[in-house]
Amino acid sequence: MKAIILTDQAAEMAGMKLAERPEPQAGINDVVVQVYAAAMTGDEASWPSTWVDRAGRDRTSSVPGHELAGVVTALGYGTTGLSLGQRVFGLTDWTRDGTLAEYVAVEARNLAPLPGDVDFTVGAALVMPGLTAWQGLFEHGRLRAGQTVLVHGAAGIVGSMAVQLARQAGAYVIGTGRAFHRQTALDFGAHDFFDLENNLLEDISEVDLVFDVFAGEIAKRSLGVVRAGGRLVTIAGPIDATAANTLVIDFVVEPDRGQLTELIRQVRDGRLRTHIGNVVTLNDAVAAFNPAMRINGKTIIRVRP
Ligand SMILES: NC(=O)c1ccc[n+]([C@@H]2O[C@H](COP(=O)([O-])OP(=O)(O)OC[C@H]3O[C@@H](n4cnc5c(N)ncnc54)[C@H](OP(=O)(O)O)[C@@H]3O)[C@@H](O)[C@H]2O)c1
Repeated sequence: MKAIILTDQAAEMAGMKLAERPEPQAGINDVVVQVYAAAMTGDEASWPSTWVDRAGRDRTSSVPGHELAGVVTALGYGTTGLSLGQRVFGLTDWTRDGTLAEYVAVEARNLAPLPGDVDFTVGAALVMPGLTAWQGLFEHGRLRAGQTVLVHGAAGIVGSMAVQLARQAGAYVIGTGRAFHRQTALDFGAHDFFDLENNLLEDISEVDLVFDVFAGEIAKRSLGVVRAGGRLVTIAGPIDATAANTLVIDFVVEPDRGQLTELIRQVRDGRLRTHIGNVVTLNDAVAAFNPAMRINGKTIIRVRP
């Protein structure tokens, strides 16, 4: 099969190329999915899990991408809950070969059914931002109706999803970003927008939750705008700071069939939309992920027409 591979840990994305790989086999409780649409996170090549298996053994060259939508073509020993020919979407294991390929083996529990009226590109684009925003806001952030949430990077891929989900949950949503992100953040549903280029973060009055996508200095300074007893949840790695009476949580998104099912229901109801910036073929994927090609929104690889 055709697949994108990462060939050199030191070279990161510069070592990305299109190659021929053997088709994967379904292990116990796996399915093999024929991939129709896939996506990866831009900085995946720098993650240790891209280069080793769960036992820490080198797995160079690896297939990147952990977001997919496609059709089940094989069932592993003992696999239940999904069937041959079924449309599915979901998030695959960080330490296995991924989804920028014609076929991928994935644990069935990581996938949810994709309804027939939802395009594969939309399914693939929903997985990572949808699960990350959901888990950050509601599981780790404990956001409730009537609360105020500050969403950093509100015009970005995960941030725009967090804005939509928080608003629907009845929260007051303040988005942040660069000055030119204002309209995009408001269009996704932010009640207010705070331009980090021209405003002082410290001018924001107390919020119940900060949903952070930056870590670093902005996240540290954001601790100062959380009310006593509030939370700061970040998806960009540990923050080297603490604040009395604020719980700081950094987490990595997990697969969840129930959450995927709820997210896709909201897409079909017209309450949630994905933030797709670019759709390219597998043949054009290497060029599309060139770090110099900076685009707004998610790059989706349409593996099968
Ligand atoms: N922990 C997890 O489970 C998890 C899951 C998904 C993603 N992530 C991580 O989360 C991060 C965000 O992912 P994403 O896909 O949402 O990225 P993204 O689409 O690039 O979103 C980031 C947004 O923030 C903006 N931004 C960046 N630096 C800024 C600054 N200094 N001031 C103002 N705005 C700024 C970006 O604008 P520009 O494009 O103009 O820079 C963009 O709109 C990445 O590091 C990713 O690896 C983690």
